[in-house]
Amino acid sequence: MDKKRPRWRDEEEDAVLLERKRQEKEKKKKAKLEKKGKDINGERIARTNTDLTKGYLEKKVPDIDLTSSGLCRFKAPQIRSCRSVENYERLNHIEEGAYGVVFRGRDMSTGEIVALKKLKVDKDQHGFPITSLREIETLMVLDHPNIVNLKEIVIGGSLDQIYIVMEYVEHDLKSLMSDMREPFLQSEVKTLLHQLLSATAHMHDNWIIHRDLKTSNLLMNNKGMIKVADFGLARYFSDPAAPMTPLVVTLWYRAPELLLGAKHYSTEVDMWSIGCIFGELLTNRPLIEGKSEINQIMKIFELLGYPDESSWPGFRSLPNAKSINIPKDRQPKTSLRAKFPYITSAGVDLLSRLLQFDPKKRLTAQEALEHSYFKEDPKPKPPEEFPSFLSRTSEGGERRKVPTPGAPVVAHGLKTSNSKLRHLSDNEQGEEEEEEEEEEEEEEEENKPILASPTSGLFKEDQQLGPGFQLRLG
Ligand SMILES: Nc1ncnc2c1ncn2[C@@H]1O[C@H](COP(=O)(O)OP(=O)(O)OP(=O)(O)O)[C@@H](O)[C@H]1O
Ligand SMILES: [Mg+2]
Repeated sequence: MDKKRPRWRDEEEDAVLLERKRQEKEKKKKAKLEKKGKDINGERIARTNTDLTKGYLEKKVPDIDLTSSGLCRFKAPQIRSCRSVENYERLNHIEEGAYGVVFRGRDMSTGEIVALKKLKVDKDQHGFPITSLREIETLMVLDHPNIVNLKEIVIGGSLDQIYIVMEYVEHDLKSLMSDMREPFLQSEVKTLLHQLLSATAHMHDNWIIHRDLKTSNLLMNNKGMIKVADFGLARYFSDPAAPMTPLVVTLWYRAPELLLGAKHYSTEVDMWSIGCIFGELLTNRPLIEGKSEINQIMKIFELLGYPDESSWPGFRSLPNAKSINIPKDRQPKTSLRAKFPYITSAGVDLLSRLLQFDPKKRLTAQEALEHSYFKEDPKPKPPEEFPSFLSRTSEGGERRKVPTPGAPVVAHGLKTSNSKLRHLSDNEQGEEEEEEEEEEEEEEEENKPILASPTSGLFKEDQQLGPGFQLRLG
């Protein structure tokens, strides 16, 4: 009698073996991706040794269910349909920015006054702009009294009509300050700065960097409360930092590591911007008003002196710092103390710790909140004691347009603002690609001209190539 097992048994065993092999292969692939900091979809995930249950991972890592057949089943979020914009009565136009047009409106069922931001979606391009996706995603995650509250997303008659419905806020700090004869009082500056720091600490705790903090993106209501807005450039970060485009943050508020082309940066870029906003709140004038990237970095050096290996270890290895010739006379033209003679030493100390060249030495939002500046006299003014200011937009008018540089967009020749958006989104998607592709894209990116202001046109005369300029000082 043939002792050999029937052929079909072999097939069954083979199938089991094959399945096991396939699962092992899958496991290996997953481990490899995890090592690279990506999830099973190739999405970059936050790498941290500390609290893995924080916001980002909770929301980002898909809940994978391996079924007996070996297929992956993802638990998808519940999809709800969006209401129509017709539920809102349009009252007046507030302002048009690079990424959207903002209106004041009324919810017809409740009578509540809201702000509607109509996102700029280019019909000719495939897909939804990544900036808008990030704006919606981050606003949905963040819940803080000093961050503008997202109410819902509504849609118009066609697919390109998408609106973010937010709480309506009477002012933005930029236009408000341009209408004020005198700067805010010290006690008021303290309250506003404290609120901004508190909102920023909340963002950073939720793994979000704003990347465009500036006075026109800080809204202020008539109850003395700041609301951080415009999350169009915001994104999740990881620890250690994954490479990201340095072409973020409006020029006047842009940290030196970004100006020098750093691709690995983190929450510290927001802290530099907060230092610039602090200076602006004190004097009612932007702290460092460069006309181009190179002019901006020169002005920073004039105010703070020149960095060296002890004040900023490793800065020479940044792409644009290689050819910096530090002059023999390294003294800054002025000093923070001389520029702000009326604030206390604690105030100057806080400002200088926010404006540290070395990102590692810059205060975190949490550290800044605990600074003695907020504890000494004059104490922060309670928000309810703030004066209320006349609001043009509440009266049915438009926001006063103050000529300032806009958020950075990568411009290609003279294309329209929407194609600029696409280039930014291409760049940003490049962050998620494999490393080799990243290198190629970065090379391409370095050859693109950048334009500081898509809306004001303030710097058109003075455009510089960047990032990728080489500094030759002295
Ligand atoms: N919730 C709101 N309530 C009242 N005004 C708002 C609100 N949101 C935005 N605005 C006004 O609209 C302006 C533009 O909004 P936002 O910054 O979100 O758009 P943007 O297109 O990203 O702008 P930009 O890129 O030019 O900074 C703000 O500076 C502010 O004056
Ligand atoms: Mg804005």
